[in-house]
Amino acid sequence: MKQVQDHYFHKAKKAGYPARSVYKLEEAQQKFKLLKAGDRVLDLGCQPGSWSLYAARVIGPRGLVVGVDLNPGPIQVRGGAPFHFVLGDITKETVQTRVRSICPLYDAIVSDMAPRTTGNRWADQQHSLRLARTVLEIAETLLRPGGNFYCKVFEGEDFKELVEEARLRFAKARVFKPKSSRSESREVFLLGQGFQG
Ligand SMILES: C[S@@+](CC[C@H](N)C(=O)[O-])C[C@H]1O[C@@H](n2cnc3c(N)ncnc32)[C@H](O)[C@@H]1O
Repeated sequence: MKQVQDHYFHKAKKAGYPARSVYKLEEAQQKFKLLKAGDRVLDLGCQPGSWSLYAARVIGPRGLVVGVDLNPGPIQVRGGAPFHFVLGDITKETVQTRVRSICPLYDAIVSDMAPRTTGNRWADQQHSLRLARTVLEIAETLLRPGGNFYCKVFEGEDFKELVEEARLRFAKARVFKPKSSRSESREVFLLGQGFQG
């Protein structure tokens, strides 16, 4: 992953987070209050661990964070809620079953997953859209009614349809571009609040 060493990068290091991406979740939390004390949070694409660490701190010791990633690299989530790591590809049924066996229903599902970019803008965007759609499908079985959803996606063709799909499933659905997300990046976040079950 390309590292941008800007203000957010230095701020994250100082606060003990391994990646600047933590501010993309923090901004949403401050604005929309996605997570609350005691929540069970599923963090998809959790490496190197900034979102999981942040979520664990917000939800506190009565909560639970389950993080999933393809990458087995070291991950340290200390303090706050207990953390479980699941190694694997979340698009695979076996990995989803493992996640369900740890906790049958989650209060929030967050995803910062990004496909490995190929340099082909259109193909990368389509891959990101497919991944986001899979996360929306996973929410159907793993998110409790009333739960919240926050998922990265590259904006482009067919994006509007994805937002419409989210609108059918959540009491409120919107697109959010955090300030910490670089303006030249096509990434935005699809936010759903109040899953209709
Ligand atoms: C931008 S990083 C996440 C950064 C993380 N939110 C943080 O703040 O530390 C995206 C991650 O998504 C993971 N990923 C991509 N596709 C995945 C998949 N199908 N299943 C699980 N993890 C995936 C990648 O391995 C990568 O570690």
